[in-house]
Amino acid sequence: MSNVSTGTDVDAALELARELLDGVGDRLAHSTVAARTAESIAHTVPAPDRELLVVAVALHDIGYAPQLRRSGFHPLDGARHLETLGWPPRLVGLVAHHSGSRFMARALGLEDHLDAYPDEGGALADAVLYCDMTTTPDGRRVSLAERLQDAHARHREAPEAERRARREREPFLRAAVARVQARLGPARQVNAIPLPQKH
Ligand SMILES: [Fe+2]
Repeated sequence: MSNVSTGTDVDAALELARELLDGVGDRLAHSTVAARTAESIAHTVPAPDRELLVVAVALHDIGYAPQLRRSGFHPLDGARHLETLGWPPRLVGLVAHHSGSRFMARALGLEDHLDAYPDEGGALADAVLYCDMTTTPDGRRVSLAERLQDAHARHREAPEAERRARREREPFLRAAVARVQARLGPARQVNAIPLPQKH
């Protein structure tokens, strides 16, 4: 990776993601592609936060690693592990609250646990969400609309409370992606045209 990936934190994050997610379905591909998107949209966050953005995106899904499973809610399990390893509180908070995790935590009765971590919001949290929500679970770059469509199909059999939480989260996701697109400007919308599907 280039641009902002010069820091040791980015290298360490990608290494940790590889260690924990290799072989966990396609989560590593998802995280790696999302981290590349983070590099390409890093200019939407203040310069001092650009490395943190790439680190957060690289690590946002490590809670899917089976050995980290405690609550079964991946944003929380990932954040707890990063806290244990001594990663900075802002990073831990970004992972805990990534992509509107609060909506799902509420449905699962885990909101109090999530509140143990800072929920900073703003351009950085928007950018993490953008990278996650414009990358499919198997690592293809898509529009948010396609990602949501894919999620509907995958979670059709999920419990009603979870499906409701997903529906309630959608306006939040759309608003955050729109804010990032506005920061990117019309010529810089990296996901405006969906890439060809992987076969
Ligand atoms: Fe993700």
